Amino acid sequence: MSSTNGSNLCRLVAIVILAGLISMAIILSWFSPKYNCPLPLPKPKQIIPKSNNSLTDTAEEKPILLLWVWPENYRFDFSDCKKFYNIDGCHLTDNRSLYSNSDAVLIFHKAIRWDLSNLPPSPRPPFQKWIWFHVESPTNTKKIPGLENLFNLTLSYRQDADIPVRLRLTTRKKPNEDFVIPKKDKLVCWIVSNNAASTGVGTRNRFYSELSKHIQVTLFGKAYARFLDYKDYYPTIASCKFYLAFENSIHKDYITEKLNGPLVAGSVPVVLGPPRRNYENFVPGDSFIHVNDFPDAKSLAEYLLQLDKDEDAYRKYFNWRKHLTAAPHLIQQTQEFILAICTACEHVGRHREYKEAHDIYDWYFN
Ligand SMILES: *[C@@H]1O[C@H](CO)[C@@H](O)[C@H](O)[C@H]1NC(C)=O
Ligand SMILES: *[C@@H]1O[C@H](CO)[C@@H](O)[C@H](O)[C@H]1NC(C)=O
Ligand SMILES: *[C@@H]1O[C@H](CO)[C@@H](O)[C@H](O)[C@H]1NC(C)=O
Repeated sequence: MSSTNGSNLCRLVAIVILAGLISMAIILSWFSPKYNCPLPLPKPKQIIPKSNNSLTDTAEEKPILLLWVWPENYRFDFSDCKKFYNIDGCHLTDNRSLYSNSDAVLIFHKAIRWDLSNLPPSPRPPFQKWIWFHVESPTNTKKIPGLENLFNLTLSYRQDADIPVRLRLTTRKKPNEDFVIPKKDKLVCWIVSNNAASTGVGTRNRFYSELSKHIQVTLFGKAYARFLDYKDYYPTIASCKFYLAFENSIHKDYITEKLNGPLVAGSVPVVLGPPRRNYENFVPGDSFIHVNDFPDAKSLAEYLLQLDKDEDAYRKYFNWRKHLTAAPHLIQQTQEFILAICTACEHVGRHREYKEAHDIYDWYFN
């Protein structure tokens, strides 16, 4: 009995297992899309991650900005844009094999050959924009023929360029009450790196030689064979009551790092360049002294000597620091173009509009 029962139980178990397998096979074949559903509806679980990924990819695909040549061969690590300016809106590259895929090409004016033979190949991809990259003033610009209607965007110190490049003061909400005027052991200082007459320095040199008859000016820099180490740049300017921020040539908006240096270091800039009103587009009117505020160099010298004795009047030139901040600029020569290139990257990352830049010389010289 027990053995019969045992074999009956075995049979029953075998039948149940068999029935289970058969019904599983039926269920599987029933639901298998291969046999029963020639055009299966895509299952939501399969498509959501896919579309999510592709959406994410599109959003993260950064436009490519190709630096066609390195300006003056001053190379830097493209990650500096993120490091110094928190800019990473584009994919910066100098790899020309990415040319046909580049959204924009940055072309340094001074490196273009007179016969245009080193420009990128034509025709360019229809989506691609060429950027005219030039940060010198018109006085120091060679008018290479044939470039007038080639570009889409201009990059310049000019405020009305498509991509203006400039060191800017930034506002602060919480007033800074802690500023202390650095210790001074010099009256007027000037760092001059380039004094080649061809760069248009005549005006500033004439003014300087007249000024120096009436007040002592301490000179530094290559032009005067008193080299200043990079690390001494800001501390040296800080140790001067006044700093001559004389531009090499006089043009609208041509206001360079020569002004930023003393604003950062804590000296009072004496500016020579475009009119005071142009400066006041960028920095407060009480942050600098303009040479045009005086009939001649002698009366400017007298004013500076008077301020030297009047601590309260001198201190007023630092009031702006309560609500504004000047950021130190990069001072090594090889870093000269980093800000411009990173600014281009930021622009390309944000703008996809169609654009043509016609008559760039007409715009630039007139
Ligand atoms: C989409 O992708 C992101 C990042 O990979 C993830 O955090 C998010 O949960 C995804 N969303 C969906 C709906 O799958
Ligand atoms: C330039 O890009 C091409 C194509 O992506 C790649 O094969 C090549 O290795 C790159 N060259 C350099 C120097 O990175
Ligand atoms: C760029 O400018 C050129 C010439 O000015 C023009 O032919 C081209 O269509 C422009 N392309 C874009 C993408 O703006």
